[in-house]
Formats: sequence, structure tokens, C-alpha cells
Amino acid sequence: MPTVKQARQGSWGSAIMFICLLVFQLVVLLGARTLYAQEVDFSEVEQNWKVCSGCHGVKAEGGRGFPALNYLDEDFIVEALRDYRNGTYRGDMSGIMFVQMGLLKPENFELMAKYIKEISKNE
Ligand code: HEC
Repeated sequence: MPTVKQARQGSWGSAIMFICLLVFQLVVLLGARTLYAQEVDFSEVEQNWKVCSGCHGVKAEGGRGFPALNYLDEDFIVEALRDYRNGTYRGDMSGIMFVQMGLLKPENFELMAKYIKEISKNE
């Protein structure tokens, strides 16, 4: 049988444990939220995509003779955008993309590629 003193120590112990766990959870939660927020902050390219989606489809599924982008790798998309930016022909209709590149900043090419992967995931 534990003495009264021992029992009290025991409950203090679990109270402290409980508080530690709470703090730990909070830290993990906040940390995860920051990471998550960083990953999905697409605000810079969301506006651009409204124009792109007119041809490539809302979920990059393509349509009306315009290519789908949903199956492309991120690296491939970035490379394509860089080529179009430089005026390099990749296909018969590259001229259309040369014009589009006036609206998208080169520093956002990678973010755009990530965004395209993200939106084409949610079928
Ligand atoms: C007016 C229609 C139109 C708009 C708007 C448009 N695109 Fe395109 N896109 C095309 C066409 C057409 C091609 C094929 C070009 C070629 O022949 O090289 C293409 C090709 C691409 C490719 C390469 C696809 C492949 O399979 O190689 C990527 C990546 C791309 N577009 C991204 C974008 C992004 C990002 C935007 C918005 C900033 C955008 N496009 C806006 C018509 C459009």
C-alpha cells in the first residue's frame, strides 16, 4: 500500500507528465502548421493559374487542343517554362506560351510547377 505522501507524489508526477505532453503536442502542432503553411502558400501563382487554366484546364487536365500538364514532372514543367521564357521552341504552338510567360515571374516557375502537381492531385 502506498503512503499518502507517495500517492501525492505520484499524482504530481502524472500532472507534470501531462503538462509536458501538452506542451510537446502544442510544439508539434505549431511546427507542423508552419511547415504546412509554407508548403501550400501558392498565393503568388494562384492568380496566374486562372489564366493558364483557360487553356490547360482547371485541374491541368488539358482540353480544346491544349496539352494536359497533370502528368508532367515538376522538373519538366520548370524546364518547359524556362524554355518558353527564353523563346525556345518546344512544339508547333510554343508561340502561344511565349506570350504567356510575360505574366509569370521566372522566380515563380518552381512554385507554379508545385502548384500544378498539387491541383492535379485532387481529382
Ligand atoms: C492561350 C492558351 C494557353 C495559356 C493561357 C497557357 N498555355 Fe501553356 N501551353 C499552351 C500550348 C498551345 C502549349 C503547347 C506549346 C508548344 O507547342 O510548345 C502549352 C504548353 C505548356 C507547357 C508544356 C507542356 C508539355 O507537355 O511540354 C507547360 C508546362 C505550360 N504550357 C504551362 C502553362 C502555364 C504555367 C501557364 C500560365 C502561366 C500556361 N501554360 C498558359 C497553351 C496555353
